[in-house]
Amino acid sequence: MARFDGRRVVITGAASGVGQATARRIAAEGGIVTCLDIADGGGATTLELIRGDGGTATAVECDVADPAQVDRAIGVATDAGGIDALINCAGTGSYQRFHEVTPAELQRVMAVNFYGPFHTCHAALNALLASRGCVVNIVSAAAVRGSAYLTTYSATKGALLSFTKSLAVEYGPQGLRANAVSPGAIDTPLLRLFTPPADADPHLMHRSHGLLGRMSTAEEIAGTVTFLASSDANHITGANILVDAGSTA
Ligand SMILES: NC(=O)c1ccc[n+]([C@@H]2O[C@H](COP(=O)([O-])OP(=O)(O)OC[C@H]3O[C@@H](n4cnc5c(N)ncnc54)[C@H](O)[C@@H]3O)[C@@H](O)[C@H]2O)c1
Repeated sequence: MARFDGRRVVITGAASGVGQATARRIAAEGGIVTCLDIADGGGATTLELIRGDGGTATAVECDVADPAQVDRAIGVATDAGGIDALINCAGTGSYQRFHEVTPAELQRVMAVNFYGPFHTCHAALNALLASRGCVVNIVSAAAVRGSAYLTTYSATKGALLSFTKSLAVEYGPQGLRANAVSPGAIDTPLLRLFTPPADADPHLMHRSHGLLGRMSTAEEIAGTVTFLASSDANHITGANILVDAGSTA
């Protein structure tokens, strides 16, 4: 029997990168996937790929930074039969020197990376408690190590990590699991938003390089995300699994 047979999984950021790879992997293992994204009608291309592989999925366009849109999108999933797992992959960011960060940029990144998962967890909580389900939040190795030019991004991911652990503690007794996956550099479109500032110090940037000679693929991150969302991880909660090629070793 496939690990996700008949299980209903909501994935944000499912139009690209880790979210798309996770949606495909879970659908291939029998999951019924609801893709949420601000782009591509919520994940039209991802739907095509999943259906081409014989899987089941729907897509809902949704800006995770907007609580009203999140309520509507989560409502679509709950109306269709409930939610067994919520996976927050939507994310954004940029490299900037700290003294050049504007309040608007801080707000923009915080709204997607932290408020987004906060809103989706809030909206899906009752459905997840009813199913004794789980949350997997995609954090970043930047949440646990200092990273030059990433003060904004790393702070939003640090907030997301603390939030994940607190959620695990508060709702663990009711059977809800909440875990984080913290990648290092992944070869996805997001990375192209991160252009180092002029005259960036290469010694500072070097800290974020992994030990294995290449970036992770989206599929390599999706493998760990899928594990945490599956019954193979039934007794794991409040954890943060680093999939960072040893960048924090
Ligand atoms: N790429 C990396 O090197 C890296 C490293 C560590 C952590 N991460 C994290 O992994 C996660 C997935 O990123 P990825 O690398 O697959 O990037 P990606 O750009 O391929 O995918 C991110 C998706 O999020 C969606 N998105 C952005 N803002 C949104 C919003 N407001 N509402 C809904 N959807 C929105 C985008 O449209 C996109 O489809 C992110 O949380 C990111 O911070 C990425």
